[in-house]
Amino acid sequence: MKITFATSSGTLKKEIAEVEFREDDLVFVTLKENRQTLEIGIGKREDITRRKVIILARKIVDTAKKHGIKKIAVDFNDFLFPKIANTDWKDLASLLAQNFVLADYEFNRYKTPPEEGFKRIEEITVISAPDPSIKKGVLKGLLIGEEMNKCRELANTPGGEMTPVILAQKAKEAVKGTNIRVKILNKKDMAALKMGAVLGVAQGSQNEPQFIILEYRGAASSAPIVLAGKGVTFDSGGLSLKPADSMLEMHMDMSGGAAVIHAIVLAAKLQLKKNVVGLIPAVENMPSGGSYRPGDILKSLSGKTIEVLNTDAEGRIILADALTYAEKFKPRLVVDIATLTGASMIALGEHASAILTRSEELEMLFRKLGEESGDYVWPFPLWDEYEDAIKGNNGDIANIPANGNTRYAGVINGGMFLYQFAKNYPWVHIDMAPRMTPAKGDMLAKGATGAPIQLLIKLLEEY
Ligand code: BES
Ligand code: ZN
Ligand code: ZN
Repeated sequence: MKITFATSSGTLKKEIAEVEFREDDLVFVTLKENRQTLEIGIGKREDITRRKVIILARKIVDTAKKHGIKKIAVDFNDFLFPKIANTDWKDLASLLAQNFVLADYEFNRYKTPPEEGFKRIEEITVISAPDPSIKKGVLKGLLIGEEMNKCRELANTPGGEMTPVILAQKAKEAVKGTNIRVKILNKKDMAALKMGAVLGVAQGSQNEPQFIILEYRGAASSAPIVLAGKGVTFDSGGLSLKPADSMLEMHMDMSGGAAVIHAIVLAAKLQLKKNVVGLIPAVENMPSGGSYRPGDILKSLSGKTIEVLNTDAEGRIILADALTYAEKFKPRLVVDIATLTGASMIALGEHASAILTRSEELEMLFRKLGEESGDYVWPFPLWDEYEDAIKGNNGDIANIPANGNTRYAGVINGGMFLYQFAKNYPWVHIDMAPRMTPAKGDMLAKGATGAPIQLLIKLLEEY
């Protein structure tokens, strides 16, 4: 998608459809003075909030696509709704642009194109961008949207074509043209380091695990922010095999890892003056004669032993080694991002990721960043009382409650497990399973959403 600028609608070419808002809920395509107009129903202008603007931006693109319109023009002034009129213009322009780009994406790499081609928006013209900050914001949003779509493409790729080795290769391709350094640890390297947790989970698969390390230096000195992303390229559940239906989306179980890769690429492309490290343990969780078993006890990089009571709670196991590895960088903050539990979806539905942290300040910050970015998050507690549930019978820490009660507090048990490996630095866990795929009404194509890259970018800018 291309975004261009124009000073007034009078200068527009004929084939460009103008977008106008109506205060009802209807959508029209009309012909006005020889020009197509796309009239979008938005309800009352004074009811439009920042949350609604995000959906509105997507609705414009979605409606244009449905009507086979390829070029549209929007007037920036139309978006200055009373409730968000005091939003910083650059920020608003970026928000609009990134959501235009997100709404245009569909995963159709494996589909034979129809004769007339796939429905895509070729060009959006922004009229009335009086301030240079608006142009800057639009270009920034374009960059963010495009990078998120690349993230979605990685996550949407079937498990057979997105193995740990391929994911590592894709990370190398993604950083091309930036100054990000990539280092890949293979199975041998991990064995030498004693990363028994990652290796244990990977054991059942023919596809070798990889540990992907990305380093972006945007500041001369100062401690980095570490982002650790779950990179399970396919989660069958292992010997604790998932039911057939639950397995269908599990090629996207590396969504956290993909988000980390492209968030760091964005940090570099936006030239953020921060140091950022990305850590992605990449494995395939498979059942076979070589698989790790329920009851096995793994020795993690930290030295602590992990008693595996369910091989399907594998994300927390591989992240344990990543969280320990993070200590090497003396980080000022570590954030892990993972499609960790189905329980988070039971609790929150599909509209928000769960966040867990022991820091009230970080909890407040993440809620604010979530609200501003559209990657909404909601907190769960990590009180000491919950620590008992994950004590092992025969090992230090059990990957599910040793009393077998997995019905209670699934999100918290996942977070509490990770916390055992994250006690030496400020830390936030994002359980993004609810946001792996879109909710109804999100106006995003089926498949991966690219969450929570928008939140991560705001974090890297502000923290
Ligand atoms: N990858 C899944 C969680 C998941 C489920 C993500 C659905 C996105 C959509 C994770 O590895 C898993 O299987 N978790 C188990 C944990 C349980 C065994 C304690 C779950 O949620 O059932
Ligand atoms: Zn699992
Ligand atoms: Zn998983």
